[in-house]
Amino acid sequence: MLKLMMQFFKNIVVLTGAGISAESGVPVFRGEDGLWHGRRVEDVATHEALRRDLWGVNGFFNELRRFVHAIEPNPAHLALKRLEEHYGNRFLLVTQNIDPLHQRAGSKRLITMHGQLQSALCTQCGARAPFYKDIAQDTPCPSCGKTSCLRPDIVLFNEQPYEMNVIIEALLACDLFIAVGTSGFVYPAAGFVDIARQCGAHTIEANLTQTECSPLFKEKCIGPAGQTLPALVERLLA
Ligand code: APR
Repeated sequence: MLKLMMQFFKNIVVLTGAGISAESGVPVFRGEDGLWHGRRVEDVATHEALRRDLWGVNGFFNELRRFVHAIEPNPAHLALKRLEEHYGNRFLLVTQNIDPLHQRAGSKRLITMHGQLQSALCTQCGARAPFYKDIAQDTPCPSCGKTSCLRPDIVLFNEQPYEMNVIIEALLACDLFIAVGTSGFVYPAAGFVDIARQCGAHTIEANLTQTECSPLFKEKCIGPAGQTLPALVERLLA
């Protein structure tokens, strides 16, 4: 029955979170080994922290930027690239992740709603530019040339995610919504499943475990995304 349904999806939206990158060695945010464990989010990842301590916040994200240089996409990222190849502009991938693994897997129809580690944002001229090194006080903005003004191009808590209008439009039009490796704690992404299901979309959660949001999804793929996603994509393309 499900296999039969799978052939008829017109528009697919996939939301990914930290769990999809876990098998590539990137720590998730919550839980005992999580990035936030033992850290005060208020010190390093809020808009207020940035205004209070720009260089402290830059220092934290500089470290993460160095870390992502060497990581590789895993079979879950590659499976989503395969789905995109098949569905073309009827597919949209929205990630909350700031690592570059979807890009390295070749995904093009991608919205990085929380920004990207390998990008810098100028607080003076507003330009966003690819950036692979540490941001320091004397680093000039690649666009306006001023110093002491670059910040990570990351959406911090209490800031607006990118491209929400495009995402909402895609959610309203989708008939399949898949959430991969996200705990569903952080809005607005946590609310996407509600929008999709209110529009009548089929909803699938792919996660290592059940989450607080699991009851909102019609179907669950429980297990490591590196295993469940290739199998799910195989089914969708069968
Ligand atoms: N396969 C699938 N899911 C996994 C795997 C795996 N191998 N490993 C972990 N998970 C799941 C966990 O069960 C958890 O539900 O991934 C989820 C990770 O949750 P979080 O750490 O809360 O990450 P995420 O949901 O992406 O966080 C959302 O919060 O901290 C902010 O801005 C940050 O984008 C982030 C947002």
